[in-house]
Amino acid sequence: MRSYIIAGNWKMNLGPNAARQLTDQLLQQDSITSSAGTSTTVVVCPPYVSLTAVHEGASGSPILLGAQDCHQASSGAFTGDVSAEMLTELGCTWVIVGHSERRRDHGETNALIAAKATSALNAGLRPIICVGESLEERQQERTRQIVTAQVGEIADLLGQELITLCVIAYEPIWAIGTGLAASPEQAQEVHAWIRETLLHWTEAFVPILYGGSVTDANAAELFACKDIDGALVGGASLKAGAFGGIVSAAIGAGSL
Ligand code: PGA
Repeated sequence: MRSYIIAGNWKMNLGPNAARQLTDQLLQQDSITSSAGTSTTVVVCPPYVSLTAVHEGASGSPILLGAQDCHQASSGAFTGDVSAEMLTELGCTWVIVGHSERRRDHGETNALIAAKATSALNAGLRPIICVGESLEERQQERTRQIVTAQVGEIADLLGQELITLCVIAYEPIWAIGTGLAASPEQAQEVHAWIRETLLHWTEAFVPILYGGSVTDANAAELFACKDIDGALVGGASLKAGAFGGIVSAAIGAGSL
């Protein structure tokens, strides 16, 4: 039986009231409420300000709470930042680090992302580390080089013990929010490269999620791929029916 992780990245959407409403709607999805008894893990990552509302709404349910980023230090003079320890206090057990929007808008490097993942693990959070190539890099046939360098640099800094505890998300930048998901073949090819790269650091199983325009319509074919262990979902995670459909596809794939 294969395990899947479905993580919703709400990005900068939904303040506390709207986040609570979506949580209530998610809990009306049979796939989500029944996921507890399956090998599928469901995580949602609302904005910081909505974490408490979602935590309260999802309490006692299979929905786990994650944040979209954390600072690498545990406290200090870092105006506007939030530490991993603070996130655990709000009920988080997961955190996304190194999303391409943060690499692009906040200049995050592989070294910083590795430091954030380390701090997350020290606080007891499971990091989802994002990697992926741009359209230009793909067109230049540099996808393998770019993605394995990102994974390798981060794994080098984390070392065997810590990389084993992480989750990787392969998110081609050209597929994020465009409606143009990678084909199952394109995604599987890169996932296999990532899997092979990780073997230099650990023989343990590290889940590799695909992200980029995942919907309830394309999820099943992606999850049928050998090395795709779930999804990091942006746009479709804001619609209860679509997110429920993606969870249902994972439960279906996991029961094969
Ligand atoms: P998308 O976003 O599903 O809207 O393409 C994915 C992500 O950015 O994590």
